[in-house]
Amino acid sequence: MHAPILAPSLLASDHAHLAAGTDTAAALGLAWVHIDIMDGHFVPNLTFGPQTVAALRPRSRLFFDVHLMLDQPHRYIEPFAKAGANLISVHIEPEYDHGATLARIRDLGCQNGLVLNPGTPATAIEPWLAHVDLVLVMTVQPGFGGQSFRQDMLPKLTQIDQWRRERKLAFRLEVDGGIDLVTGKACRAAGADTFAAGTAFFNAADRPGFARTVASW
Ligand code: DX5
Ligand code: ZN
Repeated sequence: MHAPILAPSLLASDHAHLAAGTDTAAALGLAWVHIDIMDGHFVPNLTFGPQTVAALRPRSRLFFDVHLMLDQPHRYIEPFAKAGANLISVHIEPEYDHGATLARIRDLGCQNGLVLNPGTPATAIEPWLAHVDLVLVMTVQPGFGGQSFRQDMLPKLTQIDQWRRERKLAFRLEVDGGIDLVTGKACRAAGADTFAAGTAFFNAADRPGFARTVASW
């Protein structure tokens, strides 16, 4: 089982001072930061582009976990890789060449990830499990921070974790959406090892305590 990783989601940080968000994570000794890219088509919201990631890159040594919520993610792999992403995750739902895109991410020197929306069954990503570094299970409908965790996603985590064990695969299993110290712990018990947390982390009265608790799971 992988050690737990907390990936604070910059979506919930101060957008006028995004580098302060990465500094906050680094100061706590965290290794990852989660960066949400939205296109206003795949999800009804807009956030950052490659230029934002490139601007943050020289200011931070954190592992940039870049979550693309895009209708045409294959068109933006190279810009985000060049901008300094360490991991690029793409959704399974839109129509594009998933295999070629996952391979392209690795060719460009990044880790790859495959993401499922709450309404997408685990079987949709099952054929790709041997070809990914990370599976991201959305625990809210993507597009906005601050939504409530969907308890009904726990069996999906259990299923994917079971396939991982049976096939002796080593991809990480990440959860994203409504993750706090209670819901995250439930996800950990179901097999998750990587925790994107926006609102609960950045609004926490005791961020060091939040980080320490996740590390203890
Ligand atoms: C939602 C994003 C999440 C978001 C999570 O579409 O993918 O990464 O930042 O925010 P919270 O933790 O507030 O649910
Ligand atoms: Zn995300």
